[in-house]
Amino acid sequence: MTAPTGTGASPWRGVIEEYRDWLPVSAETPVVTLGEGGTPLVESGWLSAKTRCSVWLKVEANNPTGSFKDRGMTVAVSSALEQGATAVVCASTGNTAASMAAYSSRAGLRPLVLVPHGKIAPGKVAQAIMYGARLIAVRGGFDSCLEVARALAKDYPVSLVNSVNPMRLEGQKTAAFEIVDALHDCPDVHVVPVGNAGNISAYWKGFREYAEAGRVSTPPALWGFQAEGAAPLVSGQVVRDPETLATAIRVGNPASWLLAEAARDESGGVIEAVSDRQILQAQQDLAVRDGVFVEPASAAGVAGLLARWAAGKVRPGLTITVTVTGHGLKDIDTALDFRGAVTEVVVDADVDQAAAAADLVSA
Ligand code: F0G
Repeated sequence: MTAPTGTGASPWRGVIEEYRDWLPVSAETPVVTLGEGGTPLVESGWLSAKTRCSVWLKVEANNPTGSFKDRGMTVAVSSALEQGATAVVCASTGNTAASMAAYSSRAGLRPLVLVPHGKIAPGKVAQAIMYGARLIAVRGGFDSCLEVARALAKDYPVSLVNSVNPMRLEGQKTAAFEIVDALHDCPDVHVVPVGNAGNISAYWKGFREYAEAGRVSTPPALWGFQAEGAAPLVSGQVVRDPETLATAIRVGNPASWLLAEAARDESGGVIEAVSDRQILQAQQDLAVRDGVFVEPASAAGVAGLLARWAAGKVRPGLTITVTVTGHGLKDIDTALDFRGAVTEVVVDADVDQAAAAADLVSA
């Protein structure tokens, strides 16, 4: 079941045209879009039944490059183009790289991406290469990549499009608008995975702006979840060597640290940690029970919601939205490793063999 998202009378035009009045663009801004946003809000029957709440998944895998990053990239790249940039740079755990490469190549800008060597999922490497990026693998983690990217943008003619660029958060806040537009109200709680902490900050901006404009009365509490081995916002300390199988959120010193703390505190929310095991179990359950295959980092929100529910911290009757941030096909190795036993049975092209393999008994 999908929440109502409007009349369906006209095709979705991408987040800049759909939310132009809420974004820092002008009539002169050249709009670089791949039709991002307008993603489905899908009810999770399993999570709703278990928690006795109404739980909805905001499926951000349905963006053009398979993650929520496209919402921010349409605004950041359009703005860079307007300002006369010819090359753009970002540090990334993979998804920002893929998105940035697609949008900047489309705009005729040169994409340079810095990624942690050997620590990004193969699907994301493939995307960055296919979209035409110069892929620079740095010996170090995401935090080192971001330091180098900032320095490059300072000393060379390249424009930085990480979420420290405010245009990114402007675009990403449209996901909060879409949730309210679909539910015709704010949820009580919004749940989101946290890495470099831009997205939780963007959601808070979006919900708050709608509340300030009188579109909703009370913005939701934001519940953010980090991976246990990369949880600086939980410990309050920079993590020097962050480690998690959820490589997308392997970040030890989030750029939007203060904004994320503000989002947590002003919304009356929490930022907590979940283990890799909890994340991978949530990833598998989402695929098997809801038909929604996300990458590991994307399942951190669901893992966190379940952990809070198990601890008796989820009151029945709430409306809860959970952002699942990126597509499962980006990182199939981690998913299949956890799934374990191979479920494929090889047979000849023979009805009896196929029936036996499927445990079917003739009627
Ligand atoms: N989920 C996925 C799939 C991500 O790729 C990211 C961040 C997050 C969650 C966390 O969002 O950083 O705004 O708190 N990926 C960044 C990247 C770091 O480079 O692609 P955040």
